[in-house]
Amino acid sequence: MDFSLKRPELIVYSHSEMNKKLNVKRRKVPWWQNEIIYQIYPRSFCDANGDGVGDLKGITSQADYLRALGVGTVWLSPVYPSPMADFGYDIADFVGIEPLFGTMADFEELRAALHDRGLKLMMDFVPNHSSDEHEWFVKSKRKEEPYTDYYIWAEPKGFNETGEPIPPNNWLSVFRGSAWTWVEERQQFYYHQFLAKQPDLNYRNERVREEMKNVLRFWLEKGVDGFRVDAITHLFEAEDLSLDEPVASPSGTDDPLDYGYLNHTLTLNQPETFSVVKEWRDVLDLYPDKAMIVEVFGEEIEEVMKYYGNDSVPLADFPFNFLLIEHLRNRSDLTGFALKDTIDMWLDNMPEGKWPNWVLGNHDYGRVGSRFGADAVDALNMLVLLLPGTPVTYNGEEIGMVNTFISWEDTQDPQGCRYGPEHYQEFSRDPERTPMQWDHSPFAGFTQGNSTWLPVNENYKEVNVQAQLQAEESHLKIYKELAALRKEESFTRGHVAYPVVTFEIFSVMRYLEGYESYLLVINTSEGEVEVDLHHHSNVELPPSAVVILRSVTDTSNSTVPGSVVKLSELILVPGEGLLLNLIEEE
Ligand code: BGC
Repeated sequence: MDFSLKRPELIVYSHSEMNKKLNVKRRKVPWWQNEIIYQIYPRSFCDANGDGVGDLKGITSQADYLRALGVGTVWLSPVYPSPMADFGYDIADFVGIEPLFGTMADFEELRAALHDRGLKLMMDFVPNHSSDEHEWFVKSKRKEEPYTDYYIWAEPKGFNETGEPIPPNNWLSVFRGSAWTWVEERQQFYYHQFLAKQPDLNYRNERVREEMKNVLRFWLEKGVDGFRVDAITHLFEAEDLSLDEPVASPSGTDDPLDYGYLNHTLTLNQPETFSVVKEWRDVLDLYPDKAMIVEVFGEEIEEVMKYYGNDSVPLADFPFNFLLIEHLRNRSDLTGFALKDTIDMWLDNMPEGKWPNWVLGNHDYGRVGSRFGADAVDALNMLVLLLPGTPVTYNGEEIGMVNTFISWEDTQDPQGCRYGPEHYQEFSRDPERTPMQWDHSPFAGFTQGNSTWLPVNENYKEVNVQAQLQAEESHLKIYKELAALRKEESFTRGHVAYPVVTFEIFSVMRYLEGYESYLLVINTSEGEVEVDLHHHSNVELPPSAVVILRSVTDTSNSTVPGSVVKLSELILVPGEGLLLNLIEEE
């Protein structure tokens, strides 16, 4: 079939450019390029001991589920000993296991269960800060060597009329309020980019750098396959602690205690960060086949891309691509044009020879079905699983879980709590962290106990794994089929084109000489759309195609998988994704 370009300027890559950029030759690619990364939030995945909080044994008990789902890599949010002020992102021992989650033996059992099934395991590495209950901080407060300078300590700027110490500068915590907390014992302030219970480590101290490299080595020796590196942009701050950050303009907030109030010129993306990331890369590269992915949120695209490094200084395998979260905040942002721009933005800026990735959601941002509408869940899963690159799926998205309403009284997330009863809902991350919905039994089969740390979503009787396995068509079945399909050559090393992009419609074609050609068509709008693809297409399309997958919301007889549809009169229900196999003309 001839897919020659009618309007080549609309195609992102011609064949050769595409191959050059993504380096998709017939070659053995590293596992992290092939496999879907599945993020598990351990508190909420599966509770084996009935205490209402998920645990490692619970995750191990679902190893067969993960294998059958078709994901290839499990990324575990932190499971280390923690006072749980930020639910595990406040670590009191970087090389242990939190008793709530189990023991080191449980961890090893999980790693073996995943590896036995051909799955990889990535840990969350949280280098920017520890818990204030970490032994290093306890000793640092007492100025016990060599820990005195393990954290960022500063003299007060002065004292106010009532004799209270004034912080050295105006820097703010991501979680609201001053980033400085006074310690009587040391008569100094310490810096914390997040909670006061998360003091920032001092990366200008050589010993700290070595300690954290030892943390990586510890887990590598335990056989993990890589790391997701937390909050990397916060690693360094300006050396001169007397400097204030400028007020952002526009700041988007009139609350001077809100993190968004300032322009973070002195506390984010300091140039020294890259040399530390390179040191970690060197540690990982002493072990075969290890991956490093870094979390860089809210930055200019040029800044984000720096974390890929280059041929002479390779850094992360990739920085997470959060553009589908940052650019498309809700359904009204979701248009064909916006999807195209968002995808282009990553691919056009990505350095040559590097690999893309697509993040739809995680434990910090609302559920996909709540941000974009439950009807768009399948289309968006289709999109990220079928584009070239590594998709990242947050647990529960495969069944279309949505945000859970959490009352102020039940709110747990410190980010929500710090904004008070009036505003907590704008900031709380609890709604996307509620227990995984396994079946229709009490507490959705998440626990055999009689309570859960966050309430289970009321919709669990309809939205759960068991029900979706039994249903004829379901989000879960679509996800599993996509996970299997994306292993075909047309997807692993095929070309990509966007034949039809309009306000309402987005489409992606994946094709490769000698293999099947696929076309994913998405109706981004909230109304039904009838479209003549030929009329809009910038490539020659055949008259008809076979339906491979369709969103669960489409119940029409004419799009039952296996049906032949005419591309000149395609009808798509609101938010629908329709995956077609293009029929080659004789
Ligand atoms: C994590 C958050 C956490 C923060 C501090 C983030 O980027 O994803 O959940 O609160 O880092 O560790």
